[in-house]
Amino acid sequence: MKKPVIAIDGYSSTGKSSISKIIAEKLGIVHLDTGALYRGITWFALQNCLDKEGEIDLNKLFNSLQSIKLEFKRENDELVLYVNEINVSKEIRTAEVSDHVSLIAKQKEVRDFLLETQRSIARNEGVIMDGRDIGTVVLPTADFKFFLTASIKERTKRRYEELLSLGLPADRNQVKENLIERDRIDSEREISPLKKAVDAIEIDNSNLTKSQTIEAILYHLKKIN
Ligand code: C5P
Repeated sequence: MKKPVIAIDGYSSTGKSSISKIIAEKLGIVHLDTGALYRGITWFALQNCLDKEGEIDLNKLFNSLQSIKLEFKRENDELVLYVNEINVSKEIRTAEVSDHVSLIAKQKEVRDFLLETQRSIARNEGVIMDGRDIGTVVLPTADFKFFLTASIKERTKRRYEELLSLGLPADRNQVKENLIERDRIDSEREISPLKKAVDAIEIDNSNLTKSQTIEAILYHLKKIN
């Protein structure tokens, strides 16, 4: 049987990646956390493309894009992102990267560069991809599409706890402001804005545990099959 292609989109910190990872394991398909790719590019820009004022020089970044090698490697049962052979799995979760990623992600050059990377992964096999524009742009013909939402209070709590579990500095208010600002930039941008695909199933998981959200998704996958 053909393995399914599944798109999971939604707001920041609705659990998209951790939920997708578990579903991928259950179904024996590949999982791609596309947010990590945007974060990887942002980390690279902060390391290599700053101007004299310490701001990201976008032209410098655009000229460097083709030289950036993004790779996921499996380590201790986790997919770990490498940028030009450097393990950046922790660095891409820092507040500095979170504060800049949406500005980098709205650039056409960056989106075009990552579009091909994402589509080539889905070409030959079943995949579950999570992000902001998967159901609308990256995989518009996906077999299943979901759109996750949750209250800002709940999302702040989840992101704050995630940062603490990674041993990264975390401030609740700063986390909340960052989520609101990223959602705003992601929803309002011109190219591939964050929005629910017309044929996506929306799940508000404010009051659901991670397992309950997974159950809800699996229920729909079975029902449609
Ligand atoms: O999913 P995560 O919160 O790690 O994504 C970080 C940022 O990457 C998002 O806020 C958004 O700006 C960008 N992104 C995107 N399109 C995707 C995935 C992520 O623009 N498909």
